[in-house]
Amino acid sequence: MKILICGKGGSGKSTLSVLIAKNLKKKGYNVLVVDADESNLGLHRLMGVPMPVNLMDNLGGKKEFKKKISQAFPKGTSQGVFDKKWGIQDIPEAYAVQTGGIKLLPIGKIHNFGEGCACPMGVLSKMFLSNLEVTDNDAVIIDTEAGIEHFGRGLEAGCDMILGVVDPSFESFMLAKKMEEMGQNAEISVFFILNKVDEQVEAAMSQHISSEKVVARISKNNTIFMKSLQGEELTMELPEIDQVCQFLIKGN
Ligand SMILES: Nc1ncnc2c1ncn2[C@@H]1O[C@H](COP(=O)(O)OP(=O)(O)OP(=O)(O)O)[C@@H](O)[C@H]1O
Ligand SMILES: [Mg+2]
Repeated sequence: MKILICGKGGSGKSTLSVLIAKNLKKKGYNVLVVDADESNLGLHRLMGVPMPVNLMDNLGGKKEFKKKISQAFPKGTSQGVFDKKWGIQDIPEAYAVQTGGIKLLPIGKIHNFGEGCACPMGVLSKMFLSNLEVTDNDAVIIDTEAGIEHFGRGLEAGCDMILGVVDPSFESFMLAKKMEEMGQNAEISVFFILNKVDEQVEAAMSQHISSEKVVARISKNNTIFMKSLQGEELTMELPEIDQVCQFLIKGN
């Protein structure tokens, strides 16, 4: 399965990506977490590993990559960047860090102020994901940047499901509607996790998000908050995350 985790800034995408990845690993899946957020630098800490060198830098950096894609694009292929289809096991050791059997691969990060737009990272994310072949025993969890710009870049192509993380904010509701529309156009199913909710908030949210689209409801959890504040690994096991993973397994 390839699952795209989307949502508003700060809704909990990275937190839930890590918890879902760990749960699926425990269930016996080969798990790859793809960090497709070019700005934020916190995902590796939540996974408890040092920041790996990202794929873009491993491929020679942004400039070199732009050269490669301008040669590859006229042919309409990703050749020149990837010589063959990759499975999770084909990812070179230097390109991903491992923790507890889970691989983490960041696509690319913006290093310097004024270094230009992040579009090449978007192109590389799309190329990498469409070049990645998964088996029934593989789970690829893609943590995306905030908002829905990646939809415009076609990142969802080749994914099995979009999981939208919705926190209690009106902006999140609007984004959820947009995600549903875009999922429909791309013919990919979209489901939601309500995050940081309590009963009162949930009742208000139900006017905006239809309950059959909601896979789980996760309440505010102080341990999650404090671990992330201190840059520590997330190790807790939540029944709601197990519910999400059971749902993913059933749907794939
Ligand atoms: N269920 C929760 N309970 C308490 N705090 C939470 C919960 N989920 C996420 N958080 C906190 O919310 C903040 C944002 O979480 P996270 O970084 O996972 O969001 P994000 O959507 O990945 O953000 P960004 O768009 O910046 O990448 C963090 O401080 C995190 O600890
Ligand atoms: Mg994040």
